[in-house]
Order: sequence, then structure tokens, then C-alpha cells
Amino acid sequence: MRAIRTVIENIADTDATVLIRGESGVGKDLVARALHAASARRAGPFVKVNCAAIPGELLESELFGHEKGAFTGAHRRKPGQFEYANSGTVYLDEIAELPLALQAKLLHVLQDFRFTRVGGNGAIEVDARVIAATNRDLEQAMARGEFREDLYYRLNVVEIHVPPLRERREEIPLLVATFLARFNAQYGRHKELAPETLARLMEHPWSGNVRELENAIRRMVVLTEGEQAFAASLARPRNGQAPAAAAPTPAVTEGLREIARRAARAAERQALVEVLDRVHWNRAEASRILKVSYKTLLNKIAECGLTPPSHR
Ligand SMILES: Nc1ncnc2c1ncn2[C@@H]1O[C@H](COP(=O)(O)OP(=O)(O)OP(=O)(O)O)[C@@H](O)[C@H]1O
Ligand SMILES: [Mg+2]
Repeated sequence: MRAIRTVIENIADTDATVLIRGESGVGKDLVARALHAASARRAGPFVKVNCAAIPGELLESELFGHEKGAFTGAHRRKPGQFEYANSGTVYLDEIAELPLALQAKLLHVLQDFRFTRVGGNGAIEVDARVIAATNRDLEQAMARGEFREDLYYRLNVVEIHVPPLRERREEIPLLVATFLARFNAQYGRHKELAPETLARLMEHPWSGNVRELENAIRRMVVLTEGEQAFAASLARPRNGQAPAAAAPTPAVTEGLREIARRAARAAERQALVEVLDRVHWNRAEASRILKVSYKTLLNKIAECGLTPPSHR
């Protein structure tokens, strides 16, 4: 991370477009915010758009705004995030999820920083620095024709690769200390870690990277159970493959079929929540992971009453 700090300082006062890459949970958002905070634009807005969380058909209007009557439901003119980011930074998260047509529009915007709102014809000029991030393999996406090569080179003026936590384990003690102090203060606790627990944390695979570590420490601080239970919980595989803790046997009042159906629904819901969270509500990707059609996935989301975080 020290090397990344140096890069941030070196490019702070340029308007170079930056592409931040790295697995989910490594701290790409944090790097983007640090870049903005170190730049001459720090007094301006930092506007984040998660390209995966917004359905493709709404994304163009989200980014570039629309005029009244541009499409069904466009009751009034709405500026896009690029306009809000004027004199600041636009952070395009999950850039690989940008539909191809929008990739073309973004490329043009990056060339002259002028664009038109959806349904409009006057060009709007904007002064914004663009930072993009992705956890996907963009080279592979390009090879498959899913990501434009010209946009890739335009975005990739400076590339910052944030390594996974397992490749920088020496940072774990400092991160743990930071999170412990934060959550102790937040929850009014005074938890400490035994050296054995820290040793365990140093060895854990952390496939969810810093986010997983942060959540693990939060859980440890919040839960009243002892540290041993916490350390033991780390040994469990992730993603709910762990055998569920034995629940007390309830009085049986329904048939086996209904019990099975209810359990299946609960398991489905849990899998949906986990996968959608992991892919930041990229429904196409979630349907691939869960091996159901896109339509089935949408139905399941509706059945379970799930909504994306930004709509809560
Ligand atoms: N060096 C760090 N110090 C403190 N907290 C960190 C650090 N790196 C990451 N975090 C925390 O870990 C969590 C995940 O970080 P962040 O959201 O930046 O990851 P990301 O790479 O953008 O992940 P994703 O690809 O899933 O969006 C955040 O809560 C962030 O505050
Ligand atoms: Mg992120």
C-alpha cells in the first residue's frame, strides 16, 4: 500500500485518468477517494457510480442525465452524475459492466468532455476527472468483445493494481488494530486479541480481502461469545458451506413436504443475498453464478423481496 501511496502522490496534481484494479474487497474505493483527496480537485465533489448496480437501460441517464420526455417516466429534466461531478471527480466503479453502447459514449466524453443528455441535443461541457475501477479481467473481456479496446487504453493512462490481502499479510496486524479500535469505540467494548488469535488471522486465506477481515473483527467485537469461539469461526469455510449449527428441534406441526419447501426457500434466499452482495447486484453475473436464467433470477429476487442497497 505504501507503493500505491507514492503513485497517488505522484499523479495527484494531474488530471490523468486512472484505472484501479484488484479483487473484490481489496480497497479500490478507498484508493479512489485518496486520489481525489490528494488532487487539486479535493474541494470539488467526488461522485461514485456503480455501473453494476444500475440496470443497463437506466445507466445512460444516470451518467449523463435526460431531458423531460426523453423516455416513458422521464417527467422532468434530470442532470446526470457527470454534471454533478463538475470540478470534481467521477468514480466509475465496476466499469466492466458498462454496456457496449455506453462504452462508446463514454469514450467520446473522455475525448472532449462534452456530451448530450438522453433525449437532448445541446452539448454540455463538464470539467471532471475520471477514475474507473474493476475486479474483472478486462483483457479477457476485450478478447470476448465485451469491452472496447480503445476505451481500455483511454482509461488505462495510469493503472493502480491493489494486491489481494493474502499477498500483503504484513499489513494484517495494523489493519486489525485499526478495526479493533474503531469497533471498540463504536460499540462501547474493550476487546483485545490474544497473540494466538492474531497468528490465526495472519494465516487465514482472506478470499474476501480487507472487507472480510473488517467484518470478522466487527463480529468479534460485537459478539459476546469469547475469543475462542471467534478463532474457531475463522477456520470455517466461507459462503455458508459450513454445516449449520444444530438448532433446537421445534415441535413438528407441518408435513415434511412443507418443511422441505420452507427450508429450500430460506436457503435460496440466503444464497441470493450472498451472491448479489458479492457481485454488487450485477444480476447477469449473479444468474451465471447461480446457474439460472436472468429471468428466473429476477423472479426470485422479487419473490424474496430483495432490493439493491442504493434503493433501501
Ligand atoms: N487499507 C485499509 N485500511 C482500512 N480499511 C480498509 C483498507 N482497505 C480496505 N478497507 C476497508 O475494506 C472494505 C472494502 O474496501 P473497498 O470497498 O474499498 O473495496 P473494493 O476493492 O472497492 O471492493 P469491491 O470490488 O467489492 O467494490 C471497506 O470497508 C474499506 O473501508
Ligand atoms: Mg468498490
